[in-house]
Amino acid sequence: MPHRKPPSPPSVAEPAAPPLRKALLCLLGATVMVGTLLVALPPHDETLLQWAWLHGALAASLAWATALPRWWVPILLLFAPAAVLALSLEVPPLAWLAAGLLPWLVFRGVIRDRVPLFLSDTPATRHLLDLITDEHPVSVIDLGCGTGGLLLALRAERPIARLRGVENAPLTWLIARLRLANAAIDVAYGSLWDESLAGHDIVYAYLSPAAMPRLWEKAAREMRPGSLLVSNSFAVPDVAPQRVIPLDGSGMATALYVWEMPGPKPLNGGSVPA
Ligand SMILES: C[S@@+](CC[C@H](N)C(=O)[O-])C[C@H]1O[C@@H](n2cnc3c(N)ncnc32)[C@H](O)[C@@H]1O
Repeated sequence: MPHRKPPSPPSVAEPAAPPLRKALLCLLGATVMVGTLLVALPPHDETLLQWAWLHGALAASLAWATALPRWWVPILLLFAPAAVLALSLEVPPLAWLAAGLLPWLVFRGVIRDRVPLFLSDTPATRHLLDLITDEHPVSVIDLGCGTGGLLLALRAERPIARLRGVENAPLTWLIARLRLANAAIDVAYGSLWDESLAGHDIVYAYLSPAAMPRLWEKAAREMRPGSLLVSNSFAVPDVAPQRVIPLDGSGMATALYVWEMPGPKPLNGGSVPA
């Protein structure tokens, strides 16, 4: 077998969210600096919006200096100016609540596990289908199933497969649940890290580089011999896959990485095509 167990990889996708915490610290740091200037400087006639821009520049510089992922820089730059502008619009409090909640409802995976929402495209679905025989019921789970489109496509082509999804972003999960209600597909609300991988022939994941070491650790511990871990676009550091299937789409996805779990296969020879 070309793959080996990783030497205790760091649990980079633990529930704690270092980038979010760092971003909040950058905002706090910028607030303290701006507050200190406001108190220390003699009376001045700058507008609130000018101070907000200074706050944004400081927060963005801190984000840059502390090596936060680059996409945080514009967010921190615009945070205070956007808040000042929004306050001047006299937006009703409920709209604020909705604006704060909506990202969490859809993008919870980014905050906790650094996994955004983007969806498997047709080439990925087609190649995944090639791995699922329709001679007997193969069990497939989509870890972080998003809005359920992939599972729906699999159901259309593999009517006897046992399909399951798990999703932890509330609104995304609800959409998947409604879409798949009549497709005989389980869609669990919860974290993929709490989901057992033991009963599945194929475990599919389209997550992020940050999640892969921890996912491999979990797969190596729980998946049965002969079952397949399939990752869309993200490899496991230092663990060579048995197969790399290039994706010919124009989207972001690059390849399917396929690892077969080592060990003696069940007597029926496993459920997935070689
Ligand atoms: C890149 S999308 C992939 C969606 C779908 N699997 C597909 O291929 O079309 C990743 C999904 O994983 C979800 N996710 C992230 N962390 C998760 C976790 N800990 N538990 C369950 N779902 C998670 C995100 O909310 C997002 O919907």
